[in-house]
Amino acid sequence: MSDRYAIVGNPVAHSKSPWIHAQFARATSQDIDYGRLEAPLDGFAATVERFRAAGGKGLNVTLPFKQEAFALCSTVSERARVARAVNTLLLETGFGDNTDGVGLARDLAQNLKVEFRTVLLLGAGGAAQGVVGALLDAGAERIVIANRTVSRAKALAERFPRASGCAYDAVRGERFDLIINATSAGLSDEAPPLPPGLLERGVLAYDMVYGRDTPFLAAARRAGARTCDGLGMLVEQAAESFFIWRGVRPQTRLLLEKLRGA
Ligand code: ATR
Repeated sequence: MSDRYAIVGNPVAHSKSPWIHAQFARATSQDIDYGRLEAPLDGFAATVERFRAAGGKGLNVTLPFKQEAFALCSTVSERARVARAVNTLLLETGFGDNTDGVGLARDLAQNLKVEFRTVLLLGAGGAAQGVVGALLDAGAERIVIANRTVSRAKALAERFPRASGCAYDAVRGERFDLIINATSAGLSDEAPPLPPGLLERGVLAYDMVYGRDTPFLAAARRAGARTCDGLGMLVEQAAESFFIWRGVRPQTRLLLEKLRGA
């Protein structure tokens, strides 16, 4: 029987992870079966335990359960500890890891080939929390975290060197090489309230949401900035999870091209 994996979240119906992992498995000749598990909002731990008891080997965890997954693990990687969130579970050992940050860093370095020293990170929720450490590791010299609720931005920044937190208005007149939208504003068709002038030619505007042209990306494009959605991050974090489970690193470039319809 194939080794069983799944993505657990709520909702998961539209997740591309099963398709991505099936492609990785085919390309690397790994015999796995990767499905979807929708956990009730108050039933994450029970859903994980049922899957484990039925022989499941590993899980990817998505919204809104990454922090709960972190709390459930018996051991976690250093990067999961820093993020305080887990997106990859090894069920035999209770080990948890977080591949979101490295997924973003690889997308920026290998797929987009972008070099950056200064980063403006928009948002201070779970998505932002998962990538600050990896952006610093990838060479960011300065990260400014702007958030609607300023206290959250400051609290997140305090956990890291070379990071500071502030309100959106406080970055007026500054310049950043890379501006990342880690808010969930795009999901309700809104843009984070960025002061004018920051999105311009020479800047990369990156939205961690994938598969939709968010108001943030549309504004960046109008201003002449380079734009990118989070599809590459999704594929790269999946490849890292696959590597953790199977010990084989799948190629990502062709798969990403296929997903983008190139
Ligand atoms: P996630 O895990 O997806 O990051 P979250 O922890 O609820 O979810 O965080 C959502 C983030 O998007 C927060 O930074 C939130 O700002 P607040 O902390 O001030 O709530 C931000 N956000 C959501 N909708 C937004 C909007 N319309 N404009 C600006 N920021 C928004």
